[in-house]
Amino acid sequence: MSKKINNKGLIERVRGMHDVMSNEYLIRKKIIEKAENIASFYGFEPIQTPHLERAELFTSAIGESTDIIEKEMYKLKTKGGDNLVLRPEGTAPIVRAYIEHGMQTKPQPVMLYYHGSFFRHERPQRGRSREFQQFGLEILGEENSIVDAIIIKTLLTILEEAVGIKPISVHINSIGDKECRKVYQKELTTYYKRKTNDLCKDCQYRLKSNPLRLLDCKNKECDEIKQGAPQIINYLCPGCTNHFKELLEILDASEVSYFLDQYLVRGLDYYSRTAFEFFLEENPDEEKMSLELGGGGRYDSLAHILGNKNIPGVGGAIGVDRAIKILSEKKKLSVQTKTPEVFFIQLGSNAKYKSLFLLDILRKAKIPIKHSLSRNSLKSQLKIASKLGASYVLILGQKETTDNTIIIRNMETTSQEIVPISKLVDRLKKKLK
Ligand code: HAM
Repeated sequence: MSKKINNKGLIERVRGMHDVMSNEYLIRKKIIEKAENIASFYGFEPIQTPHLERAELFTSAIGESTDIIEKEMYKLKTKGGDNLVLRPEGTAPIVRAYIEHGMQTKPQPVMLYYHGSFFRHERPQRGRSREFQQFGLEILGEENSIVDAIIIKTLLTILEEAVGIKPISVHINSIGDKECRKVYQKELTTYYKRKTNDLCKDCQYRLKSNPLRLLDCKNKECDEIKQGAPQIINYLCPGCTNHFKELLEILDASEVSYFLDQYLVRGLDYYSRTAFEFFLEENPDEEKMSLELGGGGRYDSLAHILGNKNIPGVGGAIGVDRAIKILSEKKKLSVQTKTPEVFFIQLGSNAKYKSLFLLDILRKAKIPIKHSLSRNSLKSQLKIASKLGASYVLILGQKETTDNTIIIRNMETTSQEIVPISKLVDRLKKKLK
């Protein structure tokens, strides 16, 4: 049984899950806000799907022989016998929602953005946790490569401007459609079968279960074998070739640079045609950080796999935790928090009782304020106010409570004035200008 209590007798958080606090919380919030603004500009609308979905949604969509389905899903069985899972990714739920809410009847394409937590029972290590956040985009109902370009351009802008990490390198490939990929997969299998004994254990398994994933192996011996493997680009049918060519031409015209990566295949089975990933372009002197910051692609057969008619779709998602990790490694993790200019001090029980009433007046007037309502002495409250760098202190004592007044003290000059509560907002606003 796993140890859930540490040596101090405290219940610990679950392995691979994190508490997000103070500065990091604010940074995440800012990134998401900026990402939402960029996505809205390009025409995306928000959607939120549940954290729990039916297990079949993912087993059919992602593919039985992928890492996610084979070993990474958090599963639970309800009392009623339903098999549910904590969502490991966002695309299948969005396609489900599109079908379930009849979005086919809306003007096409439907462009959606989402963010939130996803769950995969992976081995926790650098850039890999069991609960992680993604910011994702999906465009449904359009086949033209212009929408693939919109997805790539919007996600790239989010990484560079909302997160603030540059330069980003875009890796791109086409993995063909069901028909031309079948021919390619056959050729690939024939090539690899001749090298079976030289392959790592995982690749020997992949050869039987999911041959395309052989191209994804980072093992040194397998990497050498990969160099001689047939390349998918030579097996694309005219439809897939034209789609890919047009996408590259649009990216060229949009001045988005990219790297044609013939080994990029992605870890989910629903993809067809376009596949892409984002990496931080490394300084050659720094240690290589090869984790991808985001990725996506086209999934024209996904709706059909889920039991509907074919609906073309393309999308991608950014790993927010990985982006934050890079910011922290580059020591760019700071948010400009405004120092409160006003601190509220209360003295005596009547003043304490009236405090929340007074704070509400200031909240409605949009005057930010700090306080320490549990303290009693003037000295201790003044000490906190000066520690926080407050320019003005409001003092509500016994006398002021009775007179319906309050003292405004300038912390720099120590000058004080007594104002009626009814005039407080006006006086403060003038001073704070
Ligand atoms: P994915 O490549 O599995 O794609 O995940 C997208 C991003 O989420 C990754 O590039 C990575 O930054 C982050 N990520 C994935 N797993 C973890 C983890 N265990 N810990 C931290 N970050 C992680 C998808 O999920 C697709 N649904 C993307 C997509 C949208 N394709 C089409 N539309």
